[in-house]
Amino acid sequence: MTQPGYDALADLYAETFPDPYQFPIERHAAAAFAEAAAERPGRTVDVGCGLGHVAADLAERGLDVVGVDPSAGMLTHARRLYPELPFVDGDASLAALPSDVPIAAILARFSLIHVAPAQVRAALRGWAGRVDAGTPVLVAFQAADEPGPPIAFDHVVAPAWRWNPDAFAQALADAGFSESWRIIHRDKDYRFPMAQLLAVRA
Ligand SMILES: C[S@@+](CC[C@H](N)C(=O)[O-])C[C@H]1O[C@@H](n2cnc3c(N)ncnc32)[C@H](O)[C@@H]1O
Repeated sequence: MTQPGYDALADLYAETFPDPYQFPIERHAAAAFAEAAAERPGRTVDVGCGLGHVAADLAERGLDVVGVDPSAGMLTHARRLYPELPFVDGDASLAALPSDVPIAAILARFSLIHVAPAQVRAALRGWAGRVDAGTPVLVAFQAADEPGPPIAFDHVVAPAWRWNPDAFAQALADAGFSESWRIIHRDKDYRFPMAQLLAVRA
């Protein structure tokens, strides 16, 4: 697959973001997700894994991880940085993952922002159809304080939408996932609130 924006900027992205997390709270959210995922059989899927930093962190925490990303450029870096991990060329639909692969948990950090809202809803329904009850899903995204539908914003790499956290929780609920917790954090140097939302398959 291709993701034109990320393919073009993958080298710069790799230089700019050498670490998995930009803010400490993200690490804590990932750790809580990893604890929940560790209780489940199967593979943990990092949707839109980018450079693979977070997949590698989850693997260090003991999870059997597979990274999925549509950007050949980002996958090249992920495979170079973490040759021991599997990375699959695919998108948020998870169509690229064979349907007989049991999924323990799904993480999608700052990747569903690049999926048009109607396709996000379709992807969530697809995930729900592939996982067992209790499967945890962690989504992280640039958020909107404004209620209502997702808002397109000027992301520097690719078209993107910010979601109000309640709207995202509702989209998850509509697909069959029930919210467990959410963290909304704000940083003085970043223009938008950021959300980490954990839900489980009902
Ligand atoms: C901001 S990066 C986040 C990377 C990584 N998840 C992280 O937390 O560092 C966004 C990633 O989403 C990927 N992406 C873009 N469109 C996507 C889609 N339709 N499905 C899945 N991932 C997508 C991009 O290729 C890119 O690697």
